[in-house]
Amino acid sequence: MCDACPAVPGARPGRPEPPGHPVVVIGRLSGNVSQVHALQWTGTTKPQLLFPRLESWRTMTLVTELTSRKADTTAPLIDPLVDRWSPRAFDPNAVVDEEALRTVLEAARWAPSANNSQPWRFIVARRGTAAFTTAHDAMAGFNQVWADSAAALVINIAEIADDEGKPRPWARYDLGQAVAHLTVQAQHEGLHTHQMGGFDAAALHAAFELADNLEVVSITTIGVLGDVDALPDVLRERESAPRLRKPLAELVLLGE
Ligand SMILES: Cc1cc2nc3c(=O)[nH]c(=O)nc-3n(C[C@H](O)[C@H](O)[C@H](O)COP(=O)(O)O)c2cc1C
Repeated sequence: MCDACPAVPGARPGRPEPPGHPVVVIGRLSGNVSQVHALQWTGTTKPQLLFPRLESWRTMTLVTELTSRKADTTAPLIDPLVDRWSPRAFDPNAVVDEEALRTVLEAARWAPSANNSQPWRFIVARRGTAAFTTAHDAMAGFNQVWADSAAALVINIAEIADDEGKPRPWARYDLGQAVAHLTVQAQHEGLHTHQMGGFDAAALHAAFELADNLEVVSITTIGVLGDVDALPDVLRERESAPRLRKPLAELVLLGE
């Protein structure tokens, strides 16, 4: 809950007072209690037209309302690349639309790969499922703290050898490309992703009884941006830390 807007939680249902700074209101609409809406509420927009139908609500502060998380690029990039970043504050109540989930996986499916071998496999674990708990249990503690709030986890798996046991040397590279496609498409869908390597891959391999030619490489959390104030202090600071990259001149070893 945002400390700066104490008036909102106690406000009369349907007529919350504007907090005077940007928050997001998540509420239940009367007549359809299963429907949860996120409304951008800047405090300057009169929300009465929408809010009277809200039976209950809670507020959250998005870090993107406090500071830009956009990439400070030296060339004009497409929006999803500029906007993509890896948050830790996910909304623990947000559910990712099934169609959006299918769409981001479809983006991964259309990634290029060596010899079109498509050596990527995914385990999709929605929050609240047994598979999600299994993934959670394998995560390092510093990742469990925030990843539990994500709407879904995608466990990224490389097929490192074909059915005859012949190695696929580019499998991890190809998987990375597929995951990159997924993250960019997710951003385009209005979702956020945060990849992680801090987990016990062997534990997941065993738990999901994966074949020997499959290797668990990373996990991608997918979700909706949540309340930055819900994070522990150290993570809240990191959430708004400057986004830095090496200069292009350092990355291009030779550019004749
Ligand atoms: C393979 C891989 C492993 C990562 N592992 C972790 C992790 O275990 N925990 C974490 O909080 N972030 C992890 N990250 C996220 C990176 O720290 C993050 O992408 C990087 O700092 C750049 O920030 P940005 O994605 O916001 O641009 C990982 C990212 C990748 C691609």
